[in-house]
Amino acid sequence: MKILAVVSQKGGVGKTTLATALAVEAVRQGKSTVMVDLDPQASASFWKDTREASLVEGDLAITAVPSSRLPHVLSAAEGAGCDLAVIDTPPFSKDIAYEAAQRADFVLIPTRPAVLDVMAMTRTLDLVKHYQRPYAIALTFCPPQGREVADTVQAIEALEATLCPVRIGNRIAYSRAQQTGRAAQELDASSKAAQEVVDLYKYICIHMYNDVNGGSDNG
Ligand SMILES: Nc1ncnc2c1ncn2[C@@H]1O[C@H](COP(=O)(O)OP(=O)(O)O)[C@@H](O)[C@H]1O
Ligand SMILES: [Mg+2]
Repeated sequence: MKILAVVSQKGGVGKTTLATALAVEAVRQGKSTVMVDLDPQASASFWKDTREASLVEGDLAITAVPSSRLPHVLSAAEGAGCDLAVIDTPPFSKDIAYEAAQRADFVLIPTRPAVLDVMAMTRTLDLVKHYQRPYAIALTFCPPQGREVADTVQAIEALEATLCPVRIGNRIAYSRAQQTGRAAQELDASSKAAQEVVDLYKYICIHMYNDVNGGSDNG
């Protein structure tokens, strides 16, 4: 079983949105997937509650637990034959971010394209570097134009940090999908948001499994 952690000590950067969308994409690609919600606000769990109201069959499982139970939950998921665990984390908690990051096969760090956000993100970066975890920063809420993205890319390059080439746009499709417990690619598979999620999932697979399809042996 592989473990993908979505971590940023900043709130409102798209962690839960990407964690849920990537977990949905993994299920669509045939992976038995569990989400672990470490955020006391439990946004991912509420999303899943909404999703369950419309009974999506063969869906991802979700479990909301305090981070102290993370090792147990992960080994139980592995024992149950899960292929992938996606961990969603809260903002502001260094301890919980540590718990998730140190166990991850890959850490995704969503970051808004703004200089102050890059500065805040360096704390998360220190953490993944400390544990020597494979990671990438993904720029989220990218505006369609303006110099913000280019400036942020430059700031990240100056940190010599790994930047995912897939840009997540500032798109209403992300929040609209969540209203019905869906991910953007389920709402409209031909939308730009859908393409971004699919591309991000592929990028993560390449780095987590060395295989664009997510590993033929499931993992
Ligand atoms: N790329 C995006 N474009 C537009 N809105 C987004 C995007 N990603 C997330 N959102 C919305 O922004 C809010 C915060 O996103 P969320 O994923 O909950 O952030 P976090 O988990 O980091 O706090 C949510 O209402 C979500 O629907
Ligand atoms: Mg969240």
